Amino acid sequence: MSKTEIDLAGVRREYERARLDDEDAGHDPHAFFQRWLDEAIAAKVGEPTAMNLATLDAEGAPRSRVVLLKGFDARGLVFFTDYDGAKGQELARDPRCALTFHWVEQERQIRVLGRATRVATEESDRYFHSRPHKSQVAAAASPQSQPIDRATLEARFAEIEARYPDEVPRPANWGGFRVAAHTFEFWQGRRSRLHDRLRFRLGADGQWLRDRLAP
Ligand SMILES: Cc1cc2nc3c(=O)[nH]c(=O)nc-3n(C[C@H](O)[C@H](O)[C@H](O)COP(=O)(O)O)c2cc1C
Repeated sequence: MSKTEIDLAGVRREYERARLDDEDAGHDPHAFFQRWLDEAIAAKVGEPTAMNLATLDAEGAPRSRVVLLKGFDARGLVFFTDYDGAKGQELARDPRCALTFHWVEQERQIRVLGRATRVATEESDRYFHSRPHKSQVAAAASPQSQPIDRATLEARFAEIEARYPDEVPRPANWGGFRVAAHTFEFWQGRRSRLHDRLRFRLGADGQWLRDRLAP
């Protein structure tokens, strides 16, 4: 290895900020998720709502990318996207997906498994029109996941901005997905790599089963 290369094997740190006790986590993963999310936002971690979304393509191969969490309640986790883009088509074909949050400063990870369905059109309308004007224009101008050159993209943006100087109508192919979770896993980094992992799985009877996994 040359001197200018970083020795990745040597990049490591101890995790010792917190612990994850069974009693503290309770038995309702939605309530516990909400608590960790609130704590991440309060702690001003970088991009607290950013989550990795993994889907399956038509051949069953995994694809992943980052999206932003825009809503959360007992029904699931909501993000918005282009239904005609790659992930939109993948979820229409196979709704199974995985979401992962990593909050570096808090030494925490949350993994969620579930199934995605489209939110009601009114919910997409409400969120679309709450976005800044330029974000609305960009959503309407961008055929997500299609090859495009920068000049064409900017021309489309300028054309839509001029046509709709105030409110842009929500494109029919732009909207939200809600991921109804059947599994949550909360990970808290601990000293000497003896991390805490608590998993919650939804049983057939609608009750959540909790267990602890080896790190
Ligand atoms: C921090 C961050 C937030 C993002 N949020 C979104 C989002 O909420 N919705 C979205 O469609 N793409 C979002 N993206 C872009 C996606 O990662 C991805 O590039 C895009 O959605 C196209 O993915 P696809 O071709 O697999 O459909 C975000 C990217 C980053 C880095």
